Amino acid sequence: MYYIGVDLGTSSVKLLLMDDDGNIVNTVTKEYPISFPKPGWSEQNPTDWYEKTVEGIKELISNIDSSKVAGISFGGQMHGLVILDENDNVIRPAILWNDVRTSKQCQEITDRLGQRLLEITKNIALEGFTLPKILWLQENEPEVWSRVKKIMLPKDYLSLWLTGNIYTEFSDAAGTLLLDIEKKQWSEEITDAFNIDRRILPELIESTDRTGFVKAEIAERYKLTNEVKVFAGGADNAAAALGVGLINEEVGLISMGTSGVVSAYEPKIADYKGKLHFFNHTVPGAYYSMGVSLAAGNSLNWYKETFGKGLSFNELLSEVYTVSPGSEGLLFTPYIVGERTPHFDSKIRGSFIGISAHHEQKHFSRAVLEGITFSLRDSKDIMEKTKNKKFKRLISVGGGAQNPDIMQMQADIFNSEMIRLTVEQGPGLGACMIAAFGCGLFDSLEAVTKAFVHYKEASFIPNPKNVARYEQIYQIRKQVYKNTSEISHQLVEFNDEG
Ligand code: XUL
Repeated sequence: MYYIGVDLGTSSVKLLLMDDDGNIVNTVTKEYPISFPKPGWSEQNPTDWYEKTVEGIKELISNIDSSKVAGISFGGQMHGLVILDENDNVIRPAILWNDVRTSKQCQEITDRLGQRLLEITKNIALEGFTLPKILWLQENEPEVWSRVKKIMLPKDYLSLWLTGNIYTEFSDAAGTLLLDIEKKQWSEEITDAFNIDRRILPELIESTDRTGFVKAEIAERYKLTNEVKVFAGGADNAAAALGVGLINEEVGLISMGTSGVVSAYEPKIADYKGKLHFFNHTVPGAYYSMGVSLAAGNSLNWYKETFGKGLSFNELLSEVYTVSPGSEGLLFTPYIVGERTPHFDSKIRGSFIGISAHHEQKHFSRAVLEGITFSLRDSKDIMEKTKNKKFKRLISVGGGAQNPDIMQMQADIFNSEMIRLTVEQGPGLGACMIAAFGCGLFDSLEAVTKAFVHYKEASFIPNPKNVARYEQIYQIRKQVYKNTSEISHQLVEFNDEG
């Protein structure tokens, strides 16, 4: 049988087709537009998601016996606000996770709920989350708000189209700031505080629960059987965590994309005091914590565009590894678009510190790579310190994982063994695993992980000499934020963003 994993991203939907043995049979990517109607706004049309997904599914299964497709599930961009009227039609474009129009509403939430917000949701109010978007709508588009009969999250909208049923699951609901994540129910205290009728919120189920069967007319159109099961799936970060095997506390995940993410499996509630995101996992009953460095790959891209124009990444980085760890006294902080973890600060900006007349481009290039990695270490250290433990190893995915020198740098800066996957498929793989599990192919998510997730044999082991040197530099670097934040905040007023 075959399983389809749908990764509903911000610029495209990526579809993955896998068989019973965990082999990748096909992949298809379909792009859709994103609009920025005003500075800081970011919106998308949910019907584009659906149209591109079915177009993609058609292509994905074009070379197989489509009657053998058994299940479909999802990993989706988090936090987006999708609103439907009484006929389940979309009322206005979805407001996305990277939309930052809601600073005022975040302040309102924090003022109104105080400590209770953290106690109930385990998170602090950030512009990207869903509740501030709802408040923005209530205040700025009251006529639109009065017509809202259902609030949905992006991937759940796909499930509605495929099955006709409206649900959400805990990993995505956790990113709304409306969920009591321990009790696993919509919080009456929060919905009452902001006049949100709980009937407009979708029913909550587990990631691995079935939302329904693919509707007859769609099944007919794509030559599917009438028994294709659809499972709720998870938030992209939660589905990706499952897809790399983050199902126990021994391992941590380091993911280098545009932003950098560090995640850990959490068997029960841990008290990070809002320093990390803390959400329900796709693994029923479990959670995961997550730290975000807003500009990881983004810092390297910015650096290349600004100081290495015309060079390939290979050319830009070719001499980096001849420079000793610590870049001979040059430090970089990657706060070029503000930061989330460990400093929730939209006005902090980056810095090179310690520039000396003998530094050449290779020193700057190495400092950028090290600076990004130090920032990720900030998140990893919060996890280890709070729980008084050490990860046995870290799984590295994204940008750095293809480059052995960067893997070694990670091992030395994190002081941890680093491993990587044989094939990286992100949230789509987690979604396929949920579908395979839901269809009864395996009796536990551990068993699916064994069959579907594979690591490369060779790992990267910390070099004690480098670890000691980085440790000293990391302690010095810790002072940079507190000593530059005030200056950054003043300077932001003078740049065009300010
Ligand atoms: C998580 C977040 C992003 C989106 C990206 O809090 O905002 O990772 O899920 O799709």
